[in-house]
Parts: sequence; C-alpha cells; structure tokens
Amino acid sequence: MEPLTRPVPEADEDALKELIAAELTAVRDRSFGLTTDALDETELIAQISPLMSPLIWDLAHVGNYEELWLLREAAGAEPMRPEIDTLYDAFEHPRATRPSLPLLPPREARTYIATVRSKVLDSLASVRFRSEDPLTSGGFVYGMVVQHEHQHDETMLATHQLRKGGPALLDPPSAVARPAGEGSHDHLGEHLGEEVLVEAGPFELGTSDDPWAYDNERPGHVVDLPGYFLDTAPVSCGDYLAFMADGGYGDRRWWHPAGWEWRSSKEVEAPGFWVRDDGGPGWLRRRFGRVEEVPLDEPVQHVCWYEADAYARWAGKRLPTEAEWEKAARWDPVAARSRRFPWGDSYQEGMANLGQRMLRPTAAGSFPAGASAYGVRQLMGDVWEWTSSDFDGYPGFRAFPYKEYSEAFFGGSGEYKVLRGGSWATDPSVCRGTFRNWDLPIRRQIFAGFRCARSL
Ligand SMILES: [Fe+2]
Repeated sequence: MEPLTRPVPEADEDALKELIAAELTAVRDRSFGLTTDALDETELIAQISPLMSPLIWDLAHVGNYEELWLLREAAGAEPMRPEIDTLYDAFEHPRATRPSLPLLPPREARTYIATVRSKVLDSLASVRFRSEDPLTSGGFVYGMVVQHEHQHDETMLATHQLRKGGPALLDPPSAVARPAGEGSHDHLGEHLGEEVLVEAGPFELGTSDDPWAYDNERPGHVVDLPGYFLDTAPVSCGDYLAFMADGGYGDRRWWHPAGWEWRSSKEVEAPGFWVRDDGGPGWLRRRFGRVEEVPLDEPVQHVCWYEADAYARWAGKRLPTEAEWEKAARWDPVAARSRRFPWGDSYQEGMANLGQRMLRPTAAGSFPAGASAYGVRQLMGDVWEWTSSDFDGYPGFRAFPYKEYSEAFFGGSGEYKVLRGGSWATDPSVCRGTFRNWDLPIRRQIFAGFRCARSL
C-alpha cells in the first residue's frame, strides 16, 4: 500500500480511514520490532546513553501521545490512566532523568499501548473529518500520531546504534544490490562532488495546503534567492577522509569558534562511531554493534553541525541555507511551481532510501531517478542534511496543535540548526520536501550528514 504521503481528497474519507488504519498497524509493528520483540527487559528499561530515553519510555510515550490526541482530543474519550500522563510528558522529564521515573514495566507498557490502539481503531469509524476543524481535516491528527511514532522509531534506532554491549540485533546488508552511484567520488579528495547551478529567483518555501504538514512547515511563502551552486550528492566518507588526512580536525581556520571549543574539549578527531584500526593510521567504524571498514562511497553520517561546517570551509564551500536546500529539492523552474518531492508530487518506491529497509545509507550519487528538477540526488533519505539555518518560525507561523512540537525550540540564536531531507531510518510518511528537522550543533547520534553549497 502506498504510504500516506500525499494530499488526500476530502471526499475519499473511507479510503483515507483505511489507509490510516494500515499506517497505524505498520508503525506499531516497527516499534515492537525495535523494543519488546528485540530486547530483553533489562535492556528495555536501561538507559543505554544519557542522550536517549530508556527504550521502554519511548514505547509507552508513543501510546500515551496517541491516547491524548486520538482518544481524548479527536474522539472525546476520558483519560485511561491520568496518573501516568506526567511520566511520559517529554517536557516535564528530560531524557537523562527518565530512568529514575516509575515507568510502566515492559509487559504493562505493551498492554497499555495495545489497549489504546484497539480503542483508536474502534473509534476511527465514527470520527468525522471536518474541513473546518484543522485537527481532523484531511486526517491531520492521525497523520501527526503516525509521524510521531515513526519519529520515535528513528530515535530508537539511534539508541540501538549507541548500544555498546550485547549481541548485534540489527543486521544491515553489507553489499546489497544498491542503486549504482553514477559519477566518481574518490576517497583522496580530487573530487569533492559535482555541483549544479540554481539560478537566482523566487520560489515557494514551505506549504499551506499539505494536509499532514506540521506547523513549522507553514505557511507557504515566496522567497527570492540569489543564484548558488549545490553539490549533486552528499559528502561521502571518502571525501571526509581527505579532510581528516589534510589535518582538518587540527586546523582552527576551518572551525566555528564554538565548534573549535567543542572539538578541542572532546578531543574529537573523526566522525561518531569511527575507531582507530588497531591504533594505526586507518579508521574503522561501528555500525549496530559490528565493526567494519569505513565505506568510502557511503555518505558520511554521525557528524555534528560543527564538523559539517568545518569540512565545508576546508572545501572552499559552505553549508546551504534551508531555503537553498528546499529550492534545489522542490522547485521546478519549467513549471514554475514547487513539487512535494524532488521527483514529483507523489511518493514512489525506488526514488530514495527510506524506511529503515537498508539500515544504512546508499552510495553517494545513487538514485538518479529520484533527482530533483535541478539534477540533485539523494535529497530525500540516506542521511539528514545539516543546513546553515537556525530553527525558527516562518513569517505568519501559528503554533498548532501544541507549542511544544516546534515553537518551544525556536530561537534564531543558533541553538538549534535545521536538518532537511530524512535519513535511511526515516519513514516515507515523515518525508516530504517541506519537512524540517532540528537539533543542537553538537549532536552526532542522529543519522545526519551534509552536502555543500557555494555562492555564485
Ligand atoms: Fe514524542
């Protein structure tokens, strides 16, 4: 079944409900596969890293969120277990403190979220999607809950990547038939990626009519940009090794002052999860508990914003703004309109590496069929891409349906940087050309890489 990633006509409410039920089932299978189906109780309740919640917190939290929005708000039900609401409120309890909370034990958590789900599916038939009600129009609140659970599943994958002990549970294919990368990405730095020219001119940034778009993607508005060049592929591990070999980590010229401070205090000299090869000059990397050679043609991931920024300066380039990223991804200069995806308006299989299927990025330069109108590849999937932009509201922003999703993170002070495009771990329902992700510039556990831009 096609993922629900495109505008759905209101008249088709029954079909929309069928698709919502299928999406809810699919995401729950994914969540169980990363928690109670995969790990024993000890690991489920443990805090694998202070950066992350215990996995059992994530699992009960998505059910509690679903109860709040789909049972209480959309269906008008009474709270099922009001005494646990505060435990699973992400704003009341930062991640580092969550292991000390009296969380539901795994079995009870699973029963609770299954009960919520069953009531949701029962109530779905009688809920009216009303065009005058922004919460239910186009099934918005259901889309929000589906996306929320998938977003937590991606976070859970990051927790899996941070596991240090225990058997490797996830098994990425090593050399599966990946869409062939075209164009070379040498590992010695002669070739830092081809680039395309995006001509000066206006385009529409964001959206006003995508039914499942979050508040921070709205409203759509015209932005006029000067011309610029953008790399056609993300920076590969081979490219990044050239920066390392050139002493990039030790050369203050390339680093943002706060980045230099971060790098120096943490003594960072390689991307996250890279380890020295027996103390020698070479590097290996750890992926879901397995140590392997650094794949030279794969987009580099687990680099923070400061590392991406330093690399770009070393390469004589810069990170793109999020507007530059989105114009290259969505704008069709011939039709003079923005597309929903780089390749067109509807989601299609085979255009991007999404949905946790490969458990790794594909080679830089893959998916030529999924290129944007400008010929830029892999804008969707593979790795989230850091941009130079601070996370803030668009002109005319209105928080909906709650301030803590987006607005609480706005600032424009550089605290949170915007990432675009989704990773191999992102579900298609969370992926569209307008989607905005954000994180602190020091974060490396997320599946993030970058590509470079250059001013004319
Ligand atoms: Fe959440």
